[in-house]
Amino acid sequence: MSAVSFKPVKGMSDIHSPEVELWQGLEASARGLLACYDFHEVRTPIVENVSVFTHSLGEASEVVEKQMYSFERSKETFCLRPEGTAGVMRYVGGNLQDNQQARLYYIGPMFRAEQPQAGRKRQFHQLGVECIGEASAEQDAEVLQMQAALLKSWGLNNVRFQLNTRGSLEDFPKVLAGLRAELEPQRDALCEDCQRRLQDNVLRVLDCKVEHCKDCVQALPPITRWMAPESLSYFEKVQACLRNLGVDFEVNPLLVRGLDYYQHTIWEVTCSGLGAQDAVAGGGRYVMKMGKQQLEGVGFGIGMERVILALSEEAAARVRRKEAPLLILVSMSDAARDRLMPVAAQCRDAGLRVRMDLGGRSLKAQMKAAARLDAAYVGVVGDSELETGTLQLKDMAARTQKEISLDALIPELSGAG
Ligand code: HAM
Repeated sequence: MSAVSFKPVKGMSDIHSPEVELWQGLEASARGLLACYDFHEVRTPIVENVSVFTHSLGEASEVVEKQMYSFERSKETFCLRPEGTAGVMRYVGGNLQDNQQARLYYIGPMFRAEQPQAGRKRQFHQLGVECIGEASAEQDAEVLQMQAALLKSWGLNNVRFQLNTRGSLEDFPKVLAGLRAELEPQRDALCEDCQRRLQDNVLRVLDCKVEHCKDCVQALPPITRWMAPESLSYFEKVQACLRNLGVDFEVNPLLVRGLDYYQHTIWEVTCSGLGAQDAVAGGGRYVMKMGKQQLEGVGFGIGMERVILALSEEAAARVRRKEAPLLILVSMSDAARDRLMPVAAQCRDAGLRVRMDLGGRSLKAQMKAAARLDAAYVGVVGDSELETGTLQLKDMAARTQKEISLDALIPELSGAG
């Protein structure tokens, strides 16, 4: 048997204090904002049947083709979810009556078998939103505006919204045929992967990072050329609505997004200063067949690790979950400890953050621990305090000390800090 490694799997991380307080702060403020738009949380399983994703993301999408952690048990194939939309649609498909709407969000880990690098992980976390059942340009704009408001509330500046349209499902074969006809004469200039993509998934050529391919793509006409007038006016309406809402965006005619379920509006949010992995979020309108139902929705997924990388120190300090100041109770005897244990419980009940030594350590060791834990207050009880029902309360920042009655401890510290 190999030795236990204390490191997490490559590309995955332990998230711990003090960084975890930043995660909690981001999540708490997001929950508050999403509630104002009447979105409700849904928690779907991390493991799904693999068909949930192959069916909706597309067999030829990068995620399905190369990045799913899948495994077999008793002849069934499962996988760790690589994204959140398909699982939410599976849930909604089984629960939504005709013409009903659902406004849902989720926060949790996603898994993709990637080559890890800065901002690209094998386990990462998304805050995702799915608004299902309202097929209108106005709905696309409302969801996008909500995302802009969320990023702003976190203090994430320097974000750019890039917007495009993939047209309707009916436009899709024409877009693919048009792109193929444009790219086929340049086949030899394309990389090997893109030569294969010409047949399998020509849209992905537009995403290729190889320089030669980028040159060919730059010269292409915008994909809107092959779309019906209704699709173009839908896209115009989304843009007008965003202008009305005061959301800044730019149209990027080369943006296609890598998942097959999208139609009409798509967008990506990039943030300067993130290097190669600069997409903090992606979203769009989508359609999925779930059983007999054809479900339409619009939503987005925000990469939380990338948000944290992009946050400035000041923004992070503002959003971090604030902890109550720490009180450490120090006992100089077993009797003092026994007296202080219920006091600690009452203080916690009143919302104070309290620790005390329960291992019989010396006074010196307890005081050392208090300094190490960065206590704001230390309360010491020895024999004489035990007799009088008092405690010596030290304010560590002010370097002051006073004797107060045990009964006065909660009122004294409530509202402190
Ligand atoms: P996506 O563009 O694949 O879209 O992912 C959304 C965001 O997740 C990305 O912009 C990025 O910030 C983050 N992300 C993706 N892969 C990684 C990774 N390996 N490491 C770190 N962060 C990563 C979706 O997943 C769609 N489900 C979004 C959506 C929801 N569209 C409609 N509704």
